This record gives sequence, C-alpha cells and structure tokens, in this order.
Amino acid sequence: MLDLRSCLSWERQRRAISGVIECRGCGGYLHSFINSMSLKCAVDLGIPDIIHNHGKPMTVSELVAALPTLNPTKARNIHRLMRMLVQSGFFEQQKLSHGVHEDGYVLTNASRLLLKDNRLSITPFLKAMLDPIVTKPLDFLGIWFQNNDCTPFYTAHGKALWDYAGHNPKLGNLFNEGMASDARLVSSVLIDKCKGSFEGLDSLVDVGGGTGTLGKAIADAFPHLDCTVFDLPHVVAGLQGSGNVKYVGGDMFECVPVTDAVLLKWILHDWNDDECLKILKRCKEAISNQDKGMVIKRKVIILEMVVMDKEKMNVENSKTFETQLLMDVLMMAVLTGRERREEEWAKLFFAAGFSDYKIIPILGLRSLIEVYP
Ligand SMILES: C[S@@+](CC[C@H](N)C(=O)[O-])C[C@H]1O[C@@H](n2cnc3c(N)ncnc32)[C@H](O)[C@@H]1O
Repeated sequence: MLDLRSCLSWERQRRAISGVIECRGCGGYLHSFINSMSLKCAVDLGIPDIIHNHGKPMTVSELVAALPTLNPTKARNIHRLMRMLVQSGFFEQQKLSHGVHEDGYVLTNASRLLLKDNRLSITPFLKAMLDPIVTKPLDFLGIWFQNNDCTPFYTAHGKALWDYAGHNPKLGNLFNEGMASDARLVSSVLIDKCKGSFEGLDSLVDVGGGTGTLGKAIADAFPHLDCTVFDLPHVVAGLQGSGNVKYVGGDMFECVPVTDAVLLKWILHDWNDDECLKILKRCKEAISNQDKGMVIKRKVIILEMVVMDKEKMNVENSKTFETQLLMDVLMMAVLTGRERREEEWAKLFFAAGFSDYKIIPILGLRSLIEVYP
C-alpha cells in the first residue's frame, strides 16, 4: 500500500496539505456541500420568491425586513449567506438606480427555477435530494464499503429506500413531489423534441411512473394514446385516472401491463444489472404480447443518463461529466443502481433479448434511448 508520508518530503507534505485546504480545486472540493446547503437554506427561508415579489433589486436590509420568521438577532448574518449564493451564481447584485450607496439582489436564471410560481420549478426536487433522509446515507458510504448491507441507505436507516418511502409518508411525499417536478421539466422538452418517439403508438405504459406527471403530459399531447401509469400500489393508491390516463398498481419485477410501448424514466439507474435484466425482460414481454404484427414499431423508451466517455471530455462538458459521476455515487448511496456508459446499456439490452437500440441525446445530462424487440 502507498504510504503518503514516506513518499513525500516534509516540505512537499506541507505544500500538499495546504493545497488541499487552500487551492480552489481541493479547498472548494472539501466544502462544496456547503453550496448545496446554503441554497437549501435560501429556499427554506423563501428568499427567491421574496426577491422576485419585490420587483426590483432588493437591498439586504429590505430582504431582512421581508423575512417573516427571521430571528432579529441573526439578521446581520443574512448578507453572509447571500454573499455565498452570489458567488455560486444563484443571485446577482445590481446597482440601485436611485443613487443609494448599496447594491440590490436580483435573481439569475438558476434561481428563477426555484420560484414557487414557475411551472418548471425544481424546488421540490431540491428539497427531496437535500433532505437529511437522502443525504445521511452518504455519511455511511465508508462503513457500507466494509459491511454486508446492500446499500448505504440501508446502513443509515435499517430499510431499503422504497420500503422506507412506503412506510414514511414524509419521504414518500417529498420523493413523489420531487420526481413530479423533474418530470414537468423533462416533459416540456420531451414532447417538443421527441414527438416521433410516440407517433404511431396506440398505448403506452409509464413503468415506475410515480404519481403520473409525465404520463399525463404525454396523454394530453397525444390524445389518441392510451396511457397507463404503473407504480407500486401505495404510490398510485387513491389516484383517479381520467380521459386517456389510467393508474395501475403492481410490481414491475413480476408483470408489466400489455402495451405498444413502455416508458422507463429514471427507473433502471435505480437498480443493479441483474435487477435491470428482470425489469427489461418484463417490459419486453409486455410489448411482445400484441397481435399487431409489424404495423406498430413496438419499443421501450428509456430516459436516463448515458455517461460520457472520459476521452470526449472537454472544458465545456466537464461539468456534465462531473454531474453524471455525482449521480452515480448518489445511486450507489441510496439504491443498488448506477449510471451507465453506452457499452453497459448495450450489454443489458442484448442480454434481455432486445435486437437494437438508438440513443437520442436531447435532454442535457440525460438521453432518450429507444430499445427495439
Ligand atoms: C426514481 S423514481 C422515478 C419516477 C418517475 N419515473 C420519474 O422519473 O419522475 C422510481 C419510481 O419507481 C417506483 N418503483 C420502485 N419499485 C417499483 C416496483 N417494484 N414496481 C413498480 N414501480 C416501482 C417508485 O415508486 C418510483 O415512483
């Protein structure tokens, strides 16, 4: 094993240690979770909406006065939080027009996505991802590497995530609302840019479709399409279908309702390869049990990340690559899943008995993958 102390002279050790603490890359690295937590704090306090509703650049004293639940003894710390969030790009400071010697905070494109009234708000997703129930397993990664538990989530909470969500309404709701907000964001792009994937289909089953945000958006955009939202019984319990949308409760490892096409958004990255094989086989059976011959191009439509090749990484896409790797570690922490490269996807598709696939990279970090029987 490499012993750092015996490899480095004292001076080199000193420089390496101060590098870790000070240099932007490493120092920022050790503390980068504070960015997420500062943002969560701003959202918890309602700061994006307060600045938005102010209608013009808002000084720190105006912001302090507008925070309804702020303890006055903490007021002088608000500028420290805002200074951090300006640095991270969530707010900007602008000169005030009426000659006041103070700058005012305004929103940026990033913080506009946190506004309550923004139909595409990602605040529910942020709240789900940064809830202590979800972040705690990351603290247990090191222990998990040394024990026999299936996931760090299990080590932290004594239950698997889906089991926990089924018994804990707080996590269940937080998670479903977070997923629904992501589905709203994705559906706007999907329906606009990927119409062709849904044309010619009479039926679609959104497997693991949660509370149906994406299923309903697709059903509205394609009124001739019968859309089934299929999820665990406790997730769809009490949800009423209407028009061309219906809800079915069940277990995708056992059986998927018969259909022309299956949609799998952010499902397979939750599971390991053996589990994905089972799900894909159930999906293949669902689209094979049709008596329509070749009239319809039956398929499984997958919305997932395709982790980019390191060789293709450049200055512009290095953040995308890093985000894909962060998601991969999150999947390792909370579930048995992973983010996959194209070769890994292809191997799974062919092992499950599919004959071909097409990757359409139109969703930023994520792609649409069509898989054919
Ligand atoms: C990461 S969420 C994705 C939700 C939705 N597809 C989206 O992206 O907005 C995974 C979904 O799979 C569902 N799920 C987990 N195990 C399942 C099972 N055995 N059968 C059906 N659905 C399941 C969960 O309840 C959850 O809604």
